[in-house]
Amino acid sequence: MTLPGSPFVAYRGPDLFIEDARAADLVARYGSPLYVYSKQAMLAALAPYHQALQGRPHLVCYAVKANSNLAVLQTFAQAGCGFDIVSGGELARVLAAGGQANKIVFSGVGKTRAEMRLAMEAGVRCFNVESTAELDVLSEVAQACGQRARVSLRVNPDVDAGTHPYISTGLKGNKFGIAHELAVSTYKRAASLPGLDVVGIDCHIGSQITDVLPYLDALDRVLDLVEAIEREGVTIHHLDLGGGLGITYTDETPPRANELIGLLLARIDARGHGHREVLFEPGRSLVGNAGVLLTEVQFLKPGEQKNFCVVDAAMNDLMRPALYEAYMGIVNTTLRPGSETVWDVVGPVCESGDWLGRDRQLNVQAGDILAVLSAGAYGMTMASNYNTRGRAAELMIDGSTVHLIRERESISSLFALEKLIG
Ligand code: LLP
Repeated sequence: MTLPGSPFVAYRGPDLFIEDARAADLVARYGSPLYVYSKQAMLAALAPYHQALQGRPHLVCYAVKANSNLAVLQTFAQAGCGFDIVSGGELARVLAAGGQANKIVFSGVGKTRAEMRLAMEAGVRCFNVESTAELDVLSEVAQACGQRARVSLRVNPDVDAGTHPYISTGLKGNKFGIAHELAVSTYKRAASLPGLDVVGIDCHIGSQITDVLPYLDALDRVLDLVEAIEREGVTIHHLDLGGGLGITYTDETPPRANELIGLLLARIDARGHGHREVLFEPGRSLVGNAGVLLTEVQFLKPGEQKNFCVVDAAMNDLMRPALYEAYMGIVNTTLRPGSETVWDVVGPVCESGDWLGRDRQLNVQAGDILAVLSAGAYGMTMASNYNTRGRAAELMIDGSTVHLIRERESISSLFALEKLIG
C-alpha cells in the first residue's frame, strides 16, 4: 500500500516504518499516543526551497508555530534556515535551539511591548508590523532600547487563497495586515518614525494553499505597492512572500515548492524586481508530511448507525479534525489480511467533536496501533491538556537512530502549578 505524503513514512511488507524505525516497535518502547517525525523528510521538504532560490539573496524562515520542538528547530537552523516567530516564547525556543537572531522575522498582530523589547535586545532581523498603532509602539520601544527596529509592513493583498476560512488570512475581512489602500501612507508614516528603519514588505495570504494563482495575484498586488512606495522615496529591500503552501493529506495536488517559487521568481524578474532579497515563511510544507501520530486502539464499539473505533489519542493531542473538520489519513501500522469495515475513529475526550477520522475503511482490532498521517504540522503545537491528559511524547527518527525529543508529560506535572486554598 502506498501512502500520500512523504516517502519516509512507508510500508515495508505489512508494517509501517518511519525511516528505518517500525512504528509498532516505537509504541512498544515509548508508549501511546506518540508523535514521530522523520528528520530526512523535513530536510527533503526544505531542499526544493533552497534549490529554487539558489543564486539569489534569500532566506527561508521556518514558521515555528507549525512544529516548535527544539530538535525540529535545531534541524532547520543547522540547514541554514531563519525563523518566523509570533511570540516571545517562540523567540526563546529558537535561540535555545541554536537559531540565529539575525535570521528571525517577528510576525503577529498583537506583539506586546515586552515581546518587542526582548526581540530588540536579541537583535532580530525584522519585525513584520500589522498596524499603525503597532508601528508607533515599536518605534517608542526601540528608542527606549537605544536602537532602531527594522520593519516590514504586512500588507493585506485582498486575495482569496481558496482555503478554509479559519486559515485564510489575506482577505479584507481578516484581522491580518494593513489594507492595500492604506499601505503607501502607512509606509510613509513608518519611514518618518524615529525608532524605525523600513527594510521590506511582507504578505501571507493563508495556509494549506494548493494553487499557484492566489500567490501570483498576491505577488502582483505586492509589487504594485512596492513601486508606489518607492515612488514616495521609501526604499524596500526585501520581499517576504509568507508561507502557506499546502501538502497532500489525501488527494490534494499542491504545486511543488520549487515549481511555485520558480513561477514567483519569474514574475518578480519580469517586473524588474529581481535585485531584491526574497524571504519565505513556510511551516506546514516543511514538517506536515514528516510526522505521524501513533495511537493504540482501546475498544471497538460497533453500533446500529455507526461503528466507533476508540483510540487513546484525542482532540487534545490533535485538534485539526475537531477545529477545522480537517481530513487526516488514518492507517493501521500493521496491515491485517481480510476485509475492512467502516469506522469513526474517536478519542476518549467527553465531546462529540472528539474525532480523528470519520467513515474510514480499516481492518482493525483492539490493541492495534494506528497512525494518523501528515500530523507533523499543527499537531503537537496545538495540543492541550483538556481532560487532564498529559501531552504525548515526541520522537525524531534519523535513519535507524531514534531520538526522544520530548518526554511524555507526567500527570503530576499537569497540576504542579496549582494551589489548594487554605
Ligand atoms: N507566516 C505567517 C504570518 C503565518 O501566519 C503562518 C501560519 C505561516 C507563515 C505559516 O503558514 P504555513 O506554511 O504553515 O501554511 N492551525 C492551522 C494553520 C494555521 C496557520 C497560521 N499561520 C492548521 O492546522 O491548518
